[in-house]
Amino acid sequence: MKAESVRFEKVTKRFGSVVAVNQLTLHIQPGEFMVLVGPSGCGKTTALRMLAGLEDPTEGKIYIGERCVNEVPPRDRDIAMVFQNYALYPHMRVYDNIAFGLRLRELKGVLWQLTHWSEARAIRQRIDARVRQVAQMLEIEGLLHRLPKELSGGQRQRVALARAIVRQPKVFLMDEPLSNLDAKLRDQTRAELKKLQERLGVTTIYVTHDQKEAMTLGARIAVMKDGVLQQVGTPEEVYFRPANTFVATFIGTPPMNLLSAQVLEHAGKPALQIGSATLPVLECHAQKLRTRVGQRVLVGIRPQDIYTDRTAPPDAILSEPVPAVVDVVEPHGDRNDVHLLVDGATLIAQLSARIKVNEGDTVALQLHLEYLHLFDPATGETLEA
Ligand SMILES: Nc1ncnc2c1ncn2[C@@H]1O[C@H](COP(=O)(O)OP(=O)(O)OP(=O)(O)O)[C@@H](O)[C@H]1O
Ligand SMILES: [Mg+2]
Repeated sequence: MKAESVRFEKVTKRFGSVVAVNQLTLHIQPGEFMVLVGPSGCGKTTALRMLAGLEDPTEGKIYIGERCVNEVPPRDRDIAMVFQNYALYPHMRVYDNIAFGLRLRELKGVLWQLTHWSEARAIRQRIDARVRQVAQMLEIEGLLHRLPKELSGGQRQRVALARAIVRQPKVFLMDEPLSNLDAKLRDQTRAELKKLQERLGVTTIYVTHDQKEAMTLGARIAVMKDGVLQQVGTPEEVYFRPANTFVATFIGTPPMNLLSAQVLEHAGKPALQIGSATLPVLECHAQKLRTRVGQRVLVGIRPQDIYTDRTAPPDAILSEPVPAVVDVVEPHGDRNDVHLLVDGATLIAQLSARIKVNEGDTVALQLHLEYLHLFDPATGETLEA
């Protein structure tokens, strides 16, 4: 089946005085896996519900393919949804749970007319083949005779997915579908889901508040905050070129450090004064700072791009060492998140656990100058666009 594009065009949804989704314009390619991510309450579910037809937009238009669906009832939109609290029919066996939607659609008007037995039988065989094919795909063939209460959480999740997939919809909507699973099963199901989506090639919009999940799943990620789309891009784009300080600190763990800096001129070139340290800047950044000498900017640096003198890779372009005092060490197995005090500011550096640091130690920090991010302190927008 041909995959369809999905477009939100300046879509707004208000609930009384709450603006749940604010002027959302988002284009999703046919067959694309798009992840909507953002903190709780940012409007993700509302966006999906409008696409599914369960809420009407207050303003704007939604398209599936070339068709504006604003006036199309939910059942005619050809969308399948998997929600966090997917409800399986408890009294039906797995087989019937999966077949149910197909039967409703295919047997409509046939089953009830007892004159069409042969046709009903052909349809039943078609449904059976389809249910078994999807069950095999999701590795639940052995469970078709069981009731939902006889399944593990992960198995139930896969039955819910099977029920959505079996209908061969134009668009899949998934709203935190893995959140009921334990961490290991979630990782495993997530990987399966990604493979499955690639194989089926059905346009998919997947909602999560978990930025890690977004990064691993999405071909592209749409980051939302307070109903407003902040940035759309590949995982690499939103990670390496965040559009603003919100995206910079939302994507990536621990979050990007943001430091206030004064732009000054040093040996004829712009430099950054952070506390008592003066950082030279590379040419790529210097261009952005020339017009801002004498002003303040926000400097972003990821915890992964800060080193102590003993840890830097040989090709890193490093700042002069800046003394810092270790405040807290958070172990994470192979690495430590080290909270540091520098000139009264706090920074988090992610260091290999093989480097022994103790609380109270003084260490010499070096920043990877190539990976500095610069933001306007008033708007939070990147200066690098
Ligand atoms: N039916 C409703 N009536 C009133 N306000 C609503 C309604 N549905 C959602 N909202 C509000 O709209 C905003 C967006 O809600 P939405 O459920 O879309 O957020 P979300 O991003 O899915 O959050 P979460 O990650 O917690 O699921 C919230 O402020 C919420 O309180
Ligand atoms: Mg939600």
